[in-house]
Formats: sequence, structure tokens, C-alpha cells
Amino acid sequence: MIPLGVTVSARGGARFRALAQAKAREWGLPFVPRAESGGIELLLETQAEALLIVGGTGWVLRDREGELGFGPGMAKVRIKRFESQVHLQQPDHLVQYGELKPGDHVIDATLGLAVDALVCAHAVGLGGRVEGFEASWPLFLLAREGLATLEPFAPMCRVEPSFGRAGELLSARATGSADVVLLDPMFDLPKKSSGAFETLRRHAVHEPLDEATLVEARRVARRWVLVKAGAWGREFRRLGLTAEPRSKSAPVQWARVPGSGNVASP
Ligand SMILES: C[S@@+](CC[C@H](N)C(=O)[O-])C[C@H]1O[C@@H](n2cnc3c(N)ncnc32)[C@H](O)[C@@H]1O
Repeated sequence: MIPLGVTVSARGGARFRALAQAKAREWGLPFVPRAESGGIELLLETQAEALLIVGGTGWVLRDREGELGFGPGMAKVRIKRFESQVHLQQPDHLVQYGELKPGDHVIDATLGLAVDALVCAHAVGLGGRVEGFEASWPLFLLAREGLATLEPFAPMCRVEPSFGRAGELLSARATGSADVVLLDPMFDLPKKSSGAFETLRRHAVHEPLDEATLVEARRVARRWVLVKAGAWGREFRRLGLTAEPRSKSAPVQWARVPGSGNVASP
């Protein structure tokens, strides 16, 4: 049984089969051919624990328990709110706490499926830059392929994904080389959520945020390091962070730490 393979959807046809084979070679993953009659379930029972599958609707990651596709839907909702009057009463916390503005350079050091990164890309505009770091190989591939096919739905910059661990990739960056660094690791005490998010959870890297990564993030960020955590978790206490007052009663809390070029920095 291989841990991760690449295949084609049932109605993929020759074009998608060729694409799946080429991507499997590029990504260093086995291509798993599907028999004319056999379903994906059979491949997941006999050949691979998880599969990246390409078809007419793009790439999905599938295992025996569920499926996850790349979709900018949630980012679109947040961007619409951000553009409307709703934003004045209920500002997007990421944009507000990061004080994001056109031209900024943001590093989302825990990219996931790039919802936050796309919101940042909208906020910084075409003159800005958003990079995303992701340490899970299947999630990185899903995000990179999805981002590459995005129709620009608003004037926003492209998100540039890189594979690797936040701490290592940040340590290669110059001091003060980004405006804001975002850290949104997997929550330590998660609530059960939607099927797709449960699939993400099974394939995500679950390392708790460590002090060394936080130090690197502060060095690289000129303005702020933003950290997200679940209200029911213990992460902020462990890291000595304080939730921003306006996010205190919300299920998702934010803390911000001054970056190396921030006058509030010690
Ligand atoms: C909660 S999700 C991020 C969701 C993201 N903010 C969004 O809006 O879509 C956390 C992601 O960070 C990744 N991750 C966890 N630890 C990491 C690390 N040290 N370096 C890079 N990525 C990491 C996980 O694999 C997972 O995909």
C-alpha cells in the first residue's frame, strides 16, 4: 500500500490521464492506473492510502474517509464583505490586525488551502506580494494546482506557494523582508467540523507552533506577526500570547506580536 498516489477521475479520459501521469512524475509520486470498471474505492482499499485525482473540476485529495478540493469560496465571501459596508461594522480580523494595505508583502507561513492568503492578496493588491508556506506535501500540491487555475475574481496579486516548514523557510529570509507574517497552525483542541476540513486535518502537519518559529517570524516581519488559535485551546497561554480584545469572545482568536521594524517591538 502506498501512502499517496496520483490518478484520474472516472470521466477523466486520455487528456487528464496524460496530465496525471506527467504530474505524478514531476511530484515523485506513483501513478495509479484505474481499471475501466473499478471505482476509486477499490484503489483506496487495495493500492493507496490517499490519492490526488484530476478531472474536469480540477484536483481533489481523497482517502477512505473523505475528499477535499481546492475552492476559493470562503475567501470570496470574506473579500465581498471586505469590499462592502459590512466591513465597517465587522472588519476582517486578518486585514484589521495586520493593518494590511496595498503594496504590502505578506508571508502566510501556514498556507493550508490559501483562504487567508487570498484575502491578503486582495488587501495588498497587484502592487503587493503574498507568499504561502505549506509543510504537507499533498496539501501543498492541492493548493498550488488550485491557485494556478484561479480566475482572477478581483484585483489581487498572485499567491506564491512554497513547500516546507515555516521555521526553516523563514530562517532563510532577511530581517524585515516582509510586512506581516501569519501563523495559523492546526488547533491543539479542535472542534469537529465539516467533512472537507476533516480531510484537511488528516493530511495536515500538526506540529504545535514553537518558540523558535515565532522568533524567526518576528525577525522577518517588519510590522506584525499574527497568530491564530482556537478559543478552546491552550496555545496562547503556552506561548505567552494575549488574544486581541475584539477576538476574545470569538471561536477563533488572534494574537499579534510586533515585528522587528515595529516601534512597539522591544
Ligand atoms: C489551519 S490550516 C491553515 C489554514 C489557512 N490559514 C487558510 O486560510 O486556508 C494549517 C496549515 O498549516 C500547515 N502547517 C502546520 N505546521 C506547519 C509548519 N510548521 N510549516 C508550514 N506549514 C505548516 C498544515 O499542514 C495546514 O495545512
